[in-house]
Amino acid sequence: MATRRPVKIGIAGLGRLGKQHATNLAYRVPGAVLAAACSPVDEELDWARETLPDPRIHSDYEALLADRELDALWLVTPSSLHADQIIAALRAGKHVFCEKPLSLDVAECERVLSVAREYPHLEATIGFMRRFDRSYRDAYEKARAGTIGRPFMVRSQTTDQNDPDGFFVRFAPTSGGIFLDCTVHDIDIARWFFNGARATRAFATGTIALHEGLRECGDVDNGVGVVEFEGGRLAVFYASRTMAHGCDTHSEVIGTGGALAIGHNPRLNRVEIYDAGGVRSESTPTFFARFEDAFLNEAHAFVQAVAARMAGMPPVAAGGATLADALEATRIGRALREACSTGLPVDLPA
Ligand SMILES: NC(=O)c1ccc[n+]([C@@H]2O[C@H](COP(=O)([O-])OP(=O)(O)OC[C@H]3O[C@@H](n4cnc5c(N)ncnc54)[C@H](O)[C@@H]3O)[C@@H](O)[C@H]2O)c1
Repeated sequence: MATRRPVKIGIAGLGRLGKQHATNLAYRVPGAVLAAACSPVDEELDWARETLPDPRIHSDYEALLADRELDALWLVTPSSLHADQIIAALRAGKHVFCEKPLSLDVAECERVLSVAREYPHLEATIGFMRRFDRSYRDAYEKARAGTIGRPFMVRSQTTDQNDPDGFFVRFAPTSGGIFLDCTVHDIDIARWFFNGARATRAFATGTIALHEGLRECGDVDNGVGVVEFEGGRLAVFYASRTMAHGCDTHSEVIGTGGALAIGHNPRLNRVEIYDAGGVRSESTPTFFARFEDAFLNEAHAFVQAVAARMAGMPPVAAGGATLADALEATRIGRALREACSTGLPVDLPA
């Protein structure tokens, strides 16, 4: 058996989230070396030169793929590129971590799964980081231990603070819409707590409360969905881009013997302000502030799983979402999008 050596990682995409991942991988993940960074945008590459510890810089993805020293690629690129880039990474012999969603298209997800089956020795994980949040993980373990009996209902929401600058309007043409971009996390959480139960039918509706520009992409800034799962399980989802107070992501899992509420109060920290307006806390402003630890924990888990494979040890369960989980999240997200645009329920055949 070989000894463990650092996992050499190349990151693609240094935008809003890519910079955070790059900083984690470079400075906060033992066993990882961020050896290369790739972006087609010069300013992002300048940022990498100034901020990261001397990575090789590539301005196109082909060059990153051809970088023979890299063991793994870390993709934080636009969702529409994920499927092709994961396939190319696997074909280049690299382990791959990719941000959610796997793809905006179900057939593309299936194509990735089919190619991945040819490379069972390579790790391939999709970044549903909520599975690595300490509170979600604790609730999951309690549910598994039977604390709330049989979980049959999940209520879950992903809501962002309103950005008056309209970032999401510019992002909408490549995001896949609110259900594939935001609710996809809640879908993954519901499937996780339901032990991978199959979804059978989706209902959805939505509205534009503030961002009229979304209309031309067929998107909404507030969406509600209901999904039926086999065995009488139900999930109710809410997603919003227009919250006044901050990023308010929380979930509730209801079982036959109790319920678990996860993150209901989106407070930034443990400070309470007592003033003429009453008693209040400041809110987490962004998804990154809320899930900073989860992003870091998922990087630790991926690097440990890859290091174990490189050392010739049996695969360790990294605890993240598999490609198959991510395919299901896309399938259900698309059904919600269709239900929202047609106003009709969408069946999800077996
Ligand atoms: N897990 C989460 O909660 C979460 C949160 C935000 C974003 N995301 C996901 O992360 C991904 C990126 O989102 P973002 O908000 O950082 O977007 P962004 O637009 O800010 O960044 C995208 C990056 O990809 C780069 N890029 C574009 N084409 C490329 C190519 N061909 N090769 C290499 N790099 C390329 C861009 O230069 C940019 O650096 C999306 O898939 C999104 O769904 C996940």
